[in-house]
Amino acid sequence: MISQKMQDAINQQINKELYSEYLYLSMAAYFSAQGLSGFENFFLVQAEEERFHALKFYHFVNERGGRVYFQKIDQPETEFKSPISVFEKALEHEQYVSSLINKLMDIAIKENDHASKSFLTWYVDEQVEEEDSMDTIVNKLKIIKGQGNGLLMLDKELAARTFTPPTTD
Ligand SMILES: [Fe+2]
Ligand SMILES: [Fe+2]
Repeated sequence: MISQKMQDAINQQINKELYSEYLYLSMAAYFSAQGLSGFENFFLVQAEEERFHALKFYHFVNERGGRVYFQKIDQPETEFKSPISVFEKALEHEQYVSSLINKLMDIAIKENDHASKSFLTWYVDEQVEEEDSMDTIVNKLKIIKGQGNGLLMLDKELAARTFTPPTTD
């Protein structure tokens, strides 16, 4: 049985994951309006990943005999200055999410909740990838100065990204 404190903290995190989905959909819509369908695809896939993160928490709380409840999801930003500013914001957001996952882990450790500790390890590892994937694109955009042929080539590269649900539970 999950503690009330852990349950509440995970419910907060479900809200943050759903906000992440919303934020990335907003970024996808921005790129769609710019005519950059590869970048749009990247963020549509990213949004699916965030939904997966939320649902993974959802199932965990239910499996442990807890209760999931939903709260209001904040409105994401809708306007961005440039492709690079989108990715800088996405990276900043992932760094923030990593700090939230670390706080969840702190609670699990304090409560001697080994099941939550084991479960949260997946998210700790996932956040390393999440930050790295945004950081990689920030760096590529810096190299091509966010424009020209380089931008179109990167758009083509990102068009190939597909969503594959992680097999590791
Ligand atoms: Fe996430
Ligand atoms: Fe993420």
